[in-house]
This record gives sequence, C-alpha cells and structure tokens, in this order.
Amino acid sequence: MVNPGRSLSGTVTVHGAKNSVLKLMAASLLAPGRTTLSDVPEIADVAVMADVLRGLGVDVERDIAAETVSMEVPETPGVEADTDLVRAIRASIAILGPLVGRWGEARVALPGGDAIGARALDMHASGLIALGATVDFEAGAIVARSSGRLTGAPIWLDFPSVGATENLLMAAVAAQGTTIIDNAAREPEIGDLVTMLGEMGAQIGGLGTSTLEIEGVDELKPVAHATVPDRIVAGTWAIATMMAGGDVFVRNGRAEHLDIVLEKLVAAGAEITVREDGFRVLAQRRPTAVDVVTLPYPGFPTDLLPQVIALESVSAGASLITENVHDSRFVFCRELTKMGADLRTDGHHVVLRGRDHLMGATVRASDVRAGAGLVLAGLVAEGRTEVTDVAHVDRGYAHFVGSLRGLGAHISREPDEAVA
Ligand code: EPU
Repeated sequence: MVNPGRSLSGTVTVHGAKNSVLKLMAASLLAPGRTTLSDVPEIADVAVMADVLRGLGVDVERDIAAETVSMEVPETPGVEADTDLVRAIRASIAILGPLVGRWGEARVALPGGDAIGARALDMHASGLIALGATVDFEAGAIVARSSGRLTGAPIWLDFPSVGATENLLMAAVAAQGTTIIDNAAREPEIGDLVTMLGEMGAQIGGLGTSTLEIEGVDELKPVAHATVPDRIVAGTWAIATMMAGGDVFVRNGRAEHLDIVLEKLVAAGAEITVREDGFRVLAQRRPTAVDVVTLPYPGFPTDLLPQVIALESVSAGASLITENVHDSRFVFCRELTKMGADLRTDGHHVVLRGRDHLMGATVRASDVRAGAGLVLAGLVAEGRTEVTDVAHVDRGYAHFVGSLRGLGAHISREPDEAVA
C-alpha cells in the first residue's frame, strides 16, 4: 500500500548484488571444501539457490544477521538439480558450467525466473559444445556431458549474454588449455565472479573487457569473498529520489557502475555528488523527460527499465524508451497505464508524455523490477496505490518497504510487513 507523501530524505544502504551472489554461490561447486561469501543480501533468491546447492549434497549455512553464506562442497557433489527449485530461479542455470567443467556432467531443468521473455540458452549450449561437451535437451532439462576434461577453445558470443559468459567462464577455468570468450558480457557482476575465480586460483585475463582469456587449471581452492554492491538497487533508490524529490545518500552505491544512469538523472535535473562510500542524489524540481536506450553494460541496464519508465511517466515533456535486451519487459506498461500514465508501446519502444501526477490504482507486479517500478509510481500518485504479487520484489530487494519508510515514504505491507 503506497500513499503519496513527502519527498524522500536520509540515507539508504545498498546490499550485495542478487545477480552476483547467486553465481558466486554456483562457483563454490568448483572447489571441494568451505567457501564463505559475505555481504549476502536477505533476498528470496539466495534461499532458493541454497536449496539448489543442498540438492547437490552441499552443506549450506546462511547467517542472515551476519549477511554470510557458507558452503561446504563435498569431494563429489551430485550433478542433477531439483526441477522445482530450478524452475523458480533462472540463475540456477549457473550450476551447469561448474558441474560439467569439474565433474563432467550436469543435468539442470530448464530454468524459470521472471516473466520477461523467452530467454533462450543457445549460447550456453554452443559454448559448452565448443569446449568439447555434448549438450542435449532431455525431458525438460538441459544435459551437458564430457567424457574427459573439457578442452579450451575460442568462443564468440553472438550477444554479450551475462548468463552464458558466466557459465562458460566457470567451465573454462577447469578445462585443459586456453579459452578465449569474445564479445563477453562486461557487467560488474561478471567482474565480481572473475575476481572470486581468480582468488580461487583461476587464471583469467581481460577483466572488465569484452575479451576474456582463461587458462585452465588443475585445481581450485575454496575462498572467502565479499559480494559486490547491487547497482540495480542503488539505481532504484536514485530514481525513487528523482521521482519523489528530496535528498538521499545512497550508501555503498557504486557510482562507477551507474555512469549512464546517473548521467541521465543529471540531465533530468538531479544533482549527484559522488563520495567514496556512496553517492548523494538531490532532486529539487520536477524531472525533465529524457530518452533511454537499454543495452548490455556499460549501457543503461534493462533491470532499471520499469523504474525509469515510471520516472518518465511523471517527467516534464515526452520521452522515447527503447529496450534492447529482453523481449517482453513491457507487461509493466499495461499496469502503469492503470495509474493514468500516458504511454504507447510499439515493438521494443515506449513513447511517454509525462503527466503532472499519476492516480492510485490496484496494479500487479509481474517481476521483481516491475514491482519496484510500480511502488515508485505509487510514491507520486494521488490516492492510494495497491501493488499485488509483491513477493516478486523480495527476490531482489531486501527490506524494500522498510528502506522506503526510512526515507519518509508512506508505505506499508500486508499481511506481514515485517518480512518486507
Ligand atoms: N539469450 C539468448 N541465448 C542465450 C542467452 C541469452 O538468446 O544463450 C538472450 C536472452 O533471451 C535475453 C538476452 O539474451 O533476451 C539477455 O540474456 P542474458 O543471458 O544476458 O541475461 P541472463 O543471464 O538471463 C541476467 C540477469 C537479468 C538481467 C540480464 C541482463 C541474473 C540472474 N539475471 O540474466 O536480471 O536482466 O542478465 O543484464 O543474473 C533481474 O535481475 O531482474 C534480471 C532479469
């Protein structure tokens, strides 16, 4: 339940990145022994990934207060992931690479996750085949097998897929010889994975570039590693401040991971001050409309698309938003029009004419980011906005409602806001 209210002010702290920690957990499979991750966010997807790993025989202990997760990987883990769990989160596909790379076999049900498009696995499959694995789709699962060790090879990705880059990295570190992944994704979460793999003993060159060179090693060791802060959560707080107006310090927000996003907010009228421990957003007037095009990193992140569409729906002027990464992220737009947004979608474009304000309505969150975007819209709508299916938001944001309330928003959660 969101009611319009004051502008936002105060400090909000950004937690560890969902799209990093889930892959770091998968990477633990490469090394028998105890791997410990810190800055692990209190989000639902971590619990699901923990269960995926438990299903493989990994002893997983999570300390929510300490924000750690510790994984004791057996000498020989299982190679088949539980179907229902895998269907719950797409990130579980990240166990494919380490399992086939280290143990020569992996069977993973075709994954689920957000309702944001078809999201194929062809680049995961062709990359593993290039490394010498066989890949089959059997009874709703992707099955990768290798008769001996995988062999390093050059791989060219048609598109810088985050998931394919991660899976191929985790397979290649255990392969024999050199792998070059060209047109690799460059998201900061990939950088986090490359860093952790390096700490485990992997040899990977090209960090932060679109060409990764991996020299396979015989053995990797378990490590302790801290998760990178979540740039999408940081960006969400910045956009919320822009919409509601106010003065918010986003502690732990890494401005260098949000270059284009913060540039857009400045163009829209915000003042951004970058400090070592985060950045401050000062928004004192109605935002000016800006155009946005999503692209793989360092482009504008698709995971901030609903939030920025919500922003444009109340900005002064018209804007053109183009989505280039996922094929159906516009389900969200239908809900936003229920709140009075003046927008039109055409293929992968949305055109908006900003309104002075939106109107409260009952709207449904179709995925984690859409849920966040609708709550942000509620902050600037007249009357009460009720967002249903908000459990989606718990997949990627810890204490979302509490954080917004801490900044002065009039928001509550039912039936049990304590879990928010
Ligand atoms: N794709 C293919 N073939 C492949 C792999 C991907 O066609 O083999 C397509 C997908 O269908 C999609 C596009 O390429 O249209 C991008 O997919 P990518 O592999 O880059 O994304 P992902 O690994 O499935 C991760 C995040 C997403 C985020 C994207 C893009 C995780 C768990 N998920 O997904 O996060 O949108 O990268 O940055 O890391 C979210 O957090 O809300 C979310 C959806």
